[in-house]
Amino acid sequence: MTKNITFLGIETSCDETAAAVIRENDEGTADILSNVVSSQIEEHKKFGGVVPELAARAHLENIEYIIDTALKQSGTAINEIDGVATTAGPGLIVCLTVGLNIGKSIAAFSNKPLIGVNHLEGHALSPGLNEKIKFPYLLLLISGGHSQYLIVKDVNEYEQLGTTIDDALGEAFDKTAKMLDLGYPGGPNVEKFSKEGDENFYKLPEPIINKAGCNLSFAGLKTAVLRESKKINGDVKLKYNLAASFQKTINKILYKKTKIAVEMFKKKTKKENFQLIVAGGVAANKTIRENLTQLSNEMNFEIIYPDLKFCGDNASMIAWAGIQRFKKDLIDDLNITAKSRWPLDKKAPYMKGPGLKL
Ligand SMILES: Nc1ncnc2c1ncn2[C@@H]1O[C@H](COP(=O)(O)OP(=O)(O)OP(=O)(O)O)[C@@H](O)[C@H]1O
Ligand SMILES: [Mg+2]
Repeated sequence: MTKNITFLGIETSCDETAAAVIRENDEGTADILSNVVSSQIEEHKKFGGVVPELAARAHLENIEYIIDTALKQSGTAINEIDGVATTAGPGLIVCLTVGLNIGKSIAAFSNKPLIGVNHLEGHALSPGLNEKIKFPYLLLLISGGHSQYLIVKDVNEYEQLGTTIDDALGEAFDKTAKMLDLGYPGGPNVEKFSKEGDENFYKLPEPIINKAGCNLSFAGLKTAVLRESKKINGDVKLKYNLAASFQKTINKILYKKTKIAVEMFKKKTKKENFQLIVAGGVAANKTIRENLTQLSNEMNFEIIYPDLKFCGDNASMIAWAGIQRFKKDLIDDLNITAKSRWPLDKKAPYMKGPGLKL
């Protein structure tokens, strides 16, 4: 019997310092030997968002302890792992560099292979930690910096079907929370306070809902929330109504756009039986899960979400992506550098900025 592959994963692309030790099991999913995440929420709370230099400093202060703890908790010595996977992009360069450099050092001194993981591939493959996923599948990636529909043909093989032309969905949640003074981090608070409000109270715009295929846009919706938030004058009821109406509008947009993406996926792959994987921080939102699960029942496809603890940033998904790449011999050189921008589909058109035609 061949030994099951074990990887150390490191993640420092934004405001979570994380390390994990993951072993592939005989079922083709993962045994989580340890999953340590140190969130910097308290550091960034007073600024209402991530401050790159503060984030980088916190990563530097914590990373050795976090990696040490992950190794200790897993009961694995460094010489028992098969490789080191560390996020190499996309993200904040000053933050990525911390994890990448320590990953390189560990790989070098222990003579293990290094995999520089695309953070987005980490999200894309994350449900595989718990469930057997089947290629090709349709991916809806909704996170703090990205909102995309992709065909995942295999590890390292992506075709983008649609993307946001302005804000990412997580960003829209965070900005809505900020405008409504619902606290930081935004997404979970908008979800929480939406439950207290009337979702039909405000009629908000649904940008490009009837055009541009499965591309997405949230900037006009955000501006409408800003305009209405200025008229609230501290009325808590209205605040919750606005949060609820925002959440409802998001669900309407995602329902319609996912339907289009499913049709595109079927046409391109000629597959009727397939999985839709919804991943990234926003995939933790329960009403989005209910909404898309309803669509999967209506359109008869399988829908899979990562375990809640693997929706937001974590190092288990990075170690897991590292194992999948290692199995395909996609090993990196020790001289790889961090990348702030790193699309999964390198051929996809850049969909932001002036002159964009939809
Ligand atoms: N329950 C929720 N409802 C809506 N949004 C949520 C929820 N929980 C988390 N989020 C949002 O998820 C985002 C964080 O996700 P994630 O950690 O994947 O993003 P990121 O790593 O910063 O960006 P990216 O992965 O694109 O580089 C934040 O914008 C946060 O508000
Ligand atoms: Mg992320």
